[in-house]
Amino acid sequence: MASKIRHCALGVSFAVMKTILSGMAPSGELTFGHIAGALRNWVKLQSEFDSLFCVVDQHAITVRQEPAMLRKRTLDAAAMYIAAGIDPEKSTVFIQSHVPEHVQLAWVLTCMTGMGECSRMTQFKDKSDRHSDNVNVGLFTYPILMAADILVYNADLVPVGEDQKQHLELARNLAERFNHRYSDTFTVPEPYIPEVGGRIMSLQEPTKKMSKSDPNEKNSIYLVDTDEQIINKIKRAVTDSGTEIIYDEKLRPGISNLMTLYHIVNNKSFAEIEQEFKGSGGYAEFKETVAHAIAGYVRPIRERFIEIRADDAALRKILADGAEKARGRARKVLRKVYKKTGFIE
Ligand code: TYM
Repeated sequence: MASKIRHCALGVSFAVMKTILSGMAPSGELTFGHIAGALRNWVKLQSEFDSLFCVVDQHAITVRQEPAMLRKRTLDAAAMYIAAGIDPEKSTVFIQSHVPEHVQLAWVLTCMTGMGECSRMTQFKDKSDRHSDNVNVGLFTYPILMAADILVYNADLVPVGEDQKQHLELARNLAERFNHRYSDTFTVPEPYIPEVGGRIMSLQEPTKKMSKSDPNEKNSIYLVDTDEQIINKIKRAVTDSGTEIIYDEKLRPGISNLMTLYHIVNNKSFAEIEQEFKGSGGYAEFKETVAHAIAGYVRPIRERFIEIRADDAALRKILADGAEKARGRARKVLRKVYKKTGFIE
């Protein structure tokens, strides 16, 4: 168990479990990148940590969403968390918009964030380029809401992919700023980013990230893809013109990405993978093996997902219970923050 020492007002100290929180925006179908960068670590850490996992629907609307689709994808994401191994008995699984304390805290934090801090965010720059017809203020302040998601539970650790590192840095700065301006209130959270798999690349354009909002479906392995779809996508993945299976992100980004996928599903090191395919039939044989390995890894997750989605009432009950638990905790932290800020109780 990952624990920390807490001191209570009576001068008594006791050990408590450390907290993790993370979330995913339901702005598209979840991909293998989500498993590699985040979800597999959530599953691994949930037994050691007091764990909260939310579907961040309020983040999703920073990009225009069709309401019925947003509802579907929100439930899909929650079901996928569970299908991938999140146990709602151990972890609190909930929907962000069911816990209004996140946005309430976000406002306080917004008033403590400089414009420059938000405009430096690379994800804001990327997304405002991609959605130049809808560069809304929410897109700009999104990392502050993310900070609130984390700080409202005093999370110690935040398991995420590499692209969230800069957002985490802002959450840390805001926690420290609030603590310094008022008094010790927030835990300063640490990122937990996997050494391998923190940034899974697109299959057709291996120099850019695999993304759920990519309009080209051939770029991503979706967790709802059939075996056949996965196998075809991997077989058609862009690779360079070489024949050797060697890990080199710069010179062989396509092959290196496929080696990373292969590592995720069987934990073999890059040296072991290189050895396995040394003198083999080149890229075609390698892709064939990787394709079947990935399909085999995703299959039970997809099957479980279908089962979970077939019982809407049970899923909604898990989410309602999760929201209630999460609210109870968030309310306490928000109350402290409001009091210190100077709001009348
Ligand atoms: P989102 O929804 O884009 O992605 C969810 C998680 O999956 C990781 N991820 C990837 N990892 C490796 N390779 C990829 N290709 C890949 N694509 C996605 C992301 O790094 C992330 O960990 N802002 C967040 C959601 C969020 C959040 C939070 C996360 C809101 N509040 C509080 C943690 C804590 C986001 O848009 O993630």
